[in-house]
Amino acid sequence: MNRLAPLALVIAAAAALATGCSSQGSAKPQSGLSVFHTKCSRCHGNDGRGNAVFNTPVLPASRLSEEEMVQVIAKGRSKMPAFSLELTPEEIKAVAGYIKNDLPK
Ligand code: HEC
Repeated sequence: MNRLAPLALVIAAAAALATGCSSQGSAKPQSGLSVFHTKCSRCHGNDGRGNAVFNTPVLPASRLSEEEMVQVIAKGRSKMPAFSLELTPEEIKAVAGYIKNDLPK
């Protein structure tokens, strides 16, 4: 038991790092890249090309405009969860811009 205590601490610290400080309502908005990697890549993949488990669309090939993406991200659609409570409007816009402009095509 004692031998495992330091390990549990490390795991707890890693989990705290992974979830970041966004839940504390900090003033600094996350960049599109960091939002994508913390909130989206588990379903969409690091490169946005999708994940068979979630049957996600290939984001770099999406025909949606940036504005339409903002709507899907904020309100959700089908199995895509809504993010309007988790992300600020600036973060949603940033991540939509990241998908449109910065994902490898
Ligand atoms: C729980 C898994 C999951 C998570 C987390 C998730 N998505 Fe999705 N997303 C989906 C699924 C499934 C779809 C397809 C929805 C449909 O069939 O209508 C989708 C669709 C989309 C679309 C529409 C693409 C198109 O061309 O129609 C965008 C844009 C999108 N997601 C962006 C994001 C962003 C940005 C995040 C992170 C803030 C995110 N998603 C997080 C599962 C997820």
